[in-house]
Amino acid sequence: MRQQHNLNLNWHFKDDFQPEYINRTDFSDFESVHLPHTVREIPYDCFDQTMTCMVSTYARRFGLGDISGKRIVVSFEGVSAYYILYVNGARVAEHRGAFSSARFDITDAVRKGENTLVLMVDSNERDDIPPNGSTVDFLIYGGIYRDVTLFLLEECYIENAMFRYELNADDTALAFPELKLCNHNGGFGGELEVVIKKDGETFYEYAAQIVVPSGDTSVSLEPHTLSAVERWDVDAPHLYDVSLTLRRDGAAIDRHETRVGFRTVDVNETGFYLNGKKRKLIGANRHQSYPYVGFAMGRRAQRKDADILKHELGLNSVRCSHYMQSRYFLERCDELGLLVFEEVPGWGYIGGDMFKKVVLQDLANMVTTHFDHASIVIWGTRLNETGDDDALYERTNALCKRLDPSRPTTGVRWAQFSNLIEDIYSYNDYAEPSRGEFMLLEQQTVTGLAKKVPYIVSEYVGPTLPTKPWDSEERNEEYAIRHARALSKIMTSADYLGGYAWCMFDYNTHNDHNAAEKICYHGLLDMFRIPKFAAFTYASQKDPESGAVLEPCSNVGRGERNEPVPFYVLTNCDYIDVTLSSDETRRYFPSGKFPGLKHAPIEVTDNGEFWQNRWRGATIVGYVNGKPAAKRIYSDNPRLDKIAARADDAELRCDIVEETRVVCYFIDENKNRLLFHSGAVVVKTEGDIELIGPKIIPVRGGAAAFWVKTKPSGNRGKARVQVFSDRADLDAATVEIELV
Ligand code: GAL
Repeated sequence: MRQQHNLNLNWHFKDDFQPEYINRTDFSDFESVHLPHTVREIPYDCFDQTMTCMVSTYARRFGLGDISGKRIVVSFEGVSAYYILYVNGARVAEHRGAFSSARFDITDAVRKGENTLVLMVDSNERDDIPPNGSTVDFLIYGGIYRDVTLFLLEECYIENAMFRYELNADDTALAFPELKLCNHNGGFGGELEVVIKKDGETFYEYAAQIVVPSGDTSVSLEPHTLSAVERWDVDAPHLYDVSLTLRRDGAAIDRHETRVGFRTVDVNETGFYLNGKKRKLIGANRHQSYPYVGFAMGRRAQRKDADILKHELGLNSVRCSHYMQSRYFLERCDELGLLVFEEVPGWGYIGGDMFKKVVLQDLANMVTTHFDHASIVIWGTRLNETGDDDALYERTNALCKRLDPSRPTTGVRWAQFSNLIEDIYSYNDYAEPSRGEFMLLEQQTVTGLAKKVPYIVSEYVGPTLPTKPWDSEERNEEYAIRHARALSKIMTSADYLGGYAWCMFDYNTHNDHNAAEKICYHGLLDMFRIPKFAAFTYASQKDPESGAVLEPCSNVGRGERNEPVPFYVLTNCDYIDVTLSSDETRRYFPSGKFPGLKHAPIEVTDNGEFWQNRWRGATIVGYVNGKPAAKRIYSDNPRLDKIAARADDAELRCDIVEETRVVCYFIDENKNRLLFHSGAVVVKTEGDIELIGPKIIPVRGGAAAFWVKTKPSGNRGKARVQVFSDRADLDAATVEIELV
């Protein structure tokens, strides 16, 4: 039976490469690091964009017991961007691609006792590796930024499996899993035991006969009907744990485990259908980057992003722009019922033969390794915003369809009148500024086709008004309202299967896209996932039963604008009562300008106050079903009262590296975030955790946030994070984290 060992801890790293490293066993002059790792931490902004472009070396020593009759396989889930793997001095493999996973059988190079893996990692922006080649609007950083696992396997093992099925109308499922097998022994007739569990209880099991030829092959099991399943859906994402055990002469020789959800996905020109029910896809684009460390963030941070999309922003979908993302993110999407559109890596450029070879390899890797994620409902088979290359895109689409006929395909375009090869025409629509309230083009204006086709607005708004959280109220408000206008158009027009806001959060980029700071401020959230007003355009669409949302696009007072009104309030309340200073209380209802929104922004328009009167503060009360559901109070003399600090996780494991985010809001005595407070904090940690990024952090947009990670010493106990402000009148904030 297989054994598997996570190899994330105890690597040796050097920011150069010398041929003599290949044969070394002593790396005492290297830096000791754990994974996920970035070749170099970058500052928040205004850095040299080539900082992570380098050739570097990673080394890992590991011991093996008696391995006779075993196969030894090592898997790399993500290394940016090219690497050569040496084992005990022998070159065993190379890999191109910053986002694809790879497994290598290293049996012939290892031995009983101590062994050494050495990776030469090239993180230069080589134009034989997508998305490089043009002015890419994000960074691809560098290093071993996802997990590494060592497998000890029998001579015959399951390399991968895709749990294929068809759902019947009565909810029974016809299962026909396909296994990729590696058999270094002679062929044999065996048995495959399929055990399907739900919440730990066996739901269904059966055994199938299987003929295992010698060599590397794919074998599909005979279709078998399972009893009626509970479907995976947005609101009830039922998941099943599947184990596939390969038996030879009755003895179990390998087991592959996976998790699946049963659902149907269909698209046509009338809509996107999940389990036969029409749904608008309302989502945001997500990059996988974080401040300072780029892609090198682990399981908890990846999962948290999915939670933010579903629970904080209230979205039902996400586009993984513009590449395959962490399995931890996708696993959480499976658990949450968040619908995923995942696409092959690319950005505005199609390179030469080697580049195209990598495109096909990336695509096959994406579909075969992410196949079982119920959350994935659309594959993107074009490189984002490239021109028509029918020869290439007919191949990518055909390959995708051959590997997975069950999901629709698409490809994201910036060009109108592009050839539609896939099932869905996707278009990044930034036509807004000239079209005002009629933003987003009608689909046939874009496609130029005589008839309607399935069509998605794959990006909108972001770059039309890059907005920093500390930009003026009016700019932040206009940014939020553009999102509301786009959302309204998406909701009301039958032209669109759905839309994806550009984008979930701000991200570091190349000088071609923001020469000064190297940050695209296109997010609904900032880089630390702190909401701008625009986040509440989406959050306010949530059902008030899940919590009332009441976010004025204003600090509600005098001075930031010429007049305190008008301003919008983003809310899921039915109406609001507003009292500004000594003016009468006025009642406002959702604006009629945003048809299709469940909860349109409410515009506060009147203020009977004379400007020379004393400002007496303000109150806004939101009502749901006639009852007060949320209240915001604005004082006549607001002052910085407190650092409200919170960690995303109360517990972290002490034996592995786990990270959590700490968010500090700078709030007044009424708990309002002071968006324009300028200050700085110093972060100190106690116990076996460490800070990611700098210790001195400016307060941006009324917040300071950072991630901490465990060391991982194996010591249980409390760790403490303290946040000291530069303001003498403010107490330090303390957050405690339990190390378990
Ligand atoms: C699009 C592109 C995105 C992002 C966006 C905002 O053209 O697909 O990756 O760059 O523009 O600038």
